[in-house]
Amino acid sequence: MPEDAAPHDPARREWWRDAVVYQVYPRSFADADGDGIGDLPGVRSRLPYLAALGVDAVWLSPFYPSPLADGGYDITDHRDVDPRLGTLADLDALVAEAHAHDIRVIIDIVPNHTSDQHPWFRAALEAGPGAPERDRYIFRRGAGPDGSLPPADWRSHFGGPAWERAADGEWYCHLFAREQPDLNWAHPEVRQYFLDTLRFWADRGVDGFRIDVAHSLAKDLSEPLRSQPHLDARLPLDGSDPLYDREEVHEIYRSWRRVFDEYDPPRMAVAETWHPASSRTFLYARPDELGQVFDFSLLKSEWDAEQFRTVITRSLAEHAGLGGGMTWVLSSHDVPRHASRLALPVGTDLDAWLAGDGRTPAVDPEVAARRARAATLTMLALPGSAYLYQGEELGLLEVADLPRERLQDPVHERTGGTLKGRDGCRVPLPWASSGPSFGFGAGDAWLPQPDWFADVAADTQSGRPESSLELYRSALHLRRKLAVDDSFAWVPTDDPQVLHFRRSDGWSCLLNVSAREVPLPGRVLLSSNPSQGERLAPETAVWVEEG
Ligand code: NOJ
Repeated sequence: MPEDAAPHDPARREWWRDAVVYQVYPRSFADADGDGIGDLPGVRSRLPYLAALGVDAVWLSPFYPSPLADGGYDITDHRDVDPRLGTLADLDALVAEAHAHDIRVIIDIVPNHTSDQHPWFRAALEAGPGAPERDRYIFRRGAGPDGSLPPADWRSHFGGPAWERAADGEWYCHLFAREQPDLNWAHPEVRQYFLDTLRFWADRGVDGFRIDVAHSLAKDLSEPLRSQPHLDARLPLDGSDPLYDREEVHEIYRSWRRVFDEYDPPRMAVAETWHPASSRTFLYARPDELGQVFDFSLLKSEWDAEQFRTVITRSLAEHAGLGGGMTWVLSSHDVPRHASRLALPVGTDLDAWLAGDGRTPAVDPEVAARRARAATLTMLALPGSAYLYQGEELGLLEVADLPRERLQDPVHERTGGTLKGRDGCRVPLPWASSGPSFGFGAGDAWLPQPDWFADVAADTQSGRPESSLELYRSALHLRRKLAVDDSFAWVPTDDPQVLHFRRSDGWSCLLNVSAREVPLPGRVLLSSNPSQGERLAPETAVWVEEG
């Protein structure tokens, strides 16, 4: 199929460049067998909903066998399905049926670490210090005269040190939970294992891969181990860090690209690098590597026109000339939902807000709905691909007041309860306004669902033109018709709180962040505001056709 084929033609080789990808967090999406945990047959049963929504692909967060120390990102077998979520046959059926709906399937690959229950790690513990089985992980003698101190000052992203001491006295590295030992990517078996894993899934018809913590595989493990007491904001951004975003990591992805290109069409991939953005971030998207990297800059923006303008301008500029695909994200399973986030005053400390059960500052649901829809419509008007997170189409707010005794995210335990963690955006979805677990399944859901889910359930919204769900449906269908190329140009506005950018053929998007109405430059094609009038209302985005 030539590259100039019509956009959204499902046979297009580079279909992912402008795809709308819907993230499914399987445990919280739909529960077909009533055990309280979402599963693959549940996802399959909702494919007609996703097709009607108008998404081009689903990305499935991990469904692999896992003790669930980190919601499935702790994997014991990268080539199987957790029995609680189904079987390989269920996955095959899901992929086949998704394809019948012209929906592609992207799966999560978690190469930085395994579960501590993975056979490799169990063998490493059993074999003892000095054994070759330990070389697939990062084991070291401790510091201090008796080795009782961690070998280096590295920090876990979930709180506390990135080292755990094994019963025999050696320490192992884990950048996340202690149940997630980091793999040693200098080991050829580790490299081969993931090449084979990619082929295993690509052979089953999976269309692409989301690469977890893509920037941390290549570590500088030379002795003495270098100091790295920082996470995120204070990390060097020039490739000199011992743990993150090292130059050598790109060679790994070049070898993966060779595997992707064994298939027709080539498999796609998107890198997750939860790292302060710099021009290095976009290198993962080069065509001889992964093709896409998550751009979290919108997700990290507050309700502020200048922040939106700055990050959009920067991302577009950084991509220029690299040949990679652009991506945009507002919500995921790792951050408070954007409806709540954007309703908070600029400068709000999200961790503190969550720790206080979301009480101060309080989120006004109407403000949240207005801003979330406006932000979404703006994102969907940008060139490139957009990643949606399950439930955002319902306008779901963060469930900020989950009782602490029900929390499952290891972040809560590892920070001694200082942080509540990410469960508030992982509450199982409300499909129906009544019935057990709001239509999620036949029994209670694994996390408690709030009463207000009844008002926002999919069945309550479906068919109501003013609902968030119908706005998403309209936007996704219209986008397929309008977004024909990557053109983008800012149009100057009189008010800095109003953003205006033009796509091809006079199609534009305006976002009014201000509290005032402003004039509209053309005919409204779609508005985020159900009571759109002659002028652009405050906290509203519109797509317009300029005459
Ligand atoms: C990023 C994933 O999105 C997150 O959910 C997970 O906890 C970490 N990587 C560790 O795998």
